[in-house]
Amino acid sequence: MLSISINGCNGKMGQEVISQMNEYGDMILLNGFDKENTGNFPFPVYTNFSKVTEYPDVIIDFSVPVATLSMLPFAKVHHIPVVIATTGFSEEQQQQINAYAKDIPIFQSSNMSFEIHLMTKVLKMVSLALADSADIEIIETHHNRKIDAPSGTALMLANSINKVLQNRYTYDFDRMQKTEKRSQNEIGFSSIRGGNIVGEHTVQFLSQNETFEITHKAYSRKVFADGSLKAAQFLKNKPNGLYSMDDLI
Ligand SMILES: NC(=O)c1ccc[n+]([C@@H]2O[C@H](COP(=O)([O-])OP(=O)(O)OC[C@H]3O[C@@H](n4cnc5c(N)ncnc54)[C@H](O)[C@@H]3O)[C@@H](O)[C@H]2O)c1
Repeated sequence: MLSISINGCNGKMGQEVISQMNEYGDMILLNGFDKENTGNFPFPVYTNFSKVTEYPDVIIDFSVPVATLSMLPFAKVHHIPVVIATTGFSEEQQQQINAYAKDIPIFQSSNMSFEIHLMTKVLKMVSLALADSADIEIIETHHNRKIDAPSGTALMLANSINKVLQNRYTYDFDRMQKTEKRSQNEIGFSSIRGGNIVGEHTVQFLSQNETFEITHKAYSRKVFADGSLKAAQFLKNKPNGLYSMDDLI
């Protein structure tokens, strides 16, 4: 039996993980952490890690960067593996996560969907074939409650392209700040926020006479919840270190 705690248990994704967990016969929800205990749940919810009295096999984190970083010292002291699904970390916050991964096993992915992972693989191949003749743009659309932009997934897709192309690209997040032509060595990002869109990502390769695009659309938060639970199963008993979807699949 795998016991799980959820950081951000009141949130949309926290709730999705809880309902999805019922489909796994070998998991129990031990407790949750959030900034408020609404009293709505049949399990203990903590707002302060010093009050916790039960220790899970794995913590799944779908919260906000500051909440992830306040949970990690607790995980380190009790040597609890952590699945980080939260997005929007600054460079400095990411360095802190990397440092924690020396003391505990951490699985981190900005997108827990297998198909998005597949998209990064396809993108590597397409980028090698088209990058010399095409401009690359990434468009992402999410619900109106999302607080970070561009999405962690958009950055992950760009990084996977950049990695196979010797990191020659810079990223342009705001073309309004410029009055000059785009360079071919940049990847442009556009973020749309509205309604209840779970998550859509399109990568465009724009050449003089044709456009090649790859799109992924998530229709349900289930895919992310399921991926995080599979990551939790994978992470139990792993040595300290930073793991990604490449290790899981
Ligand atoms: N990796 C993935 O596949 C994936 C998929 C979906 C969402 N996400 C990311 O997961 C995160 C959560 O998404 P969501 O849609 O559930 O958001 P949400 O806003 O519904 O939930 C966030 C939760 O964090 C809690 N929180 C906020 N500040 C806190 C604090 N200081 N201390 C403790 N808890 C705090 C909120 O109360 C809320 O319950 C976001 O970063 C989102 O981008 C990742």
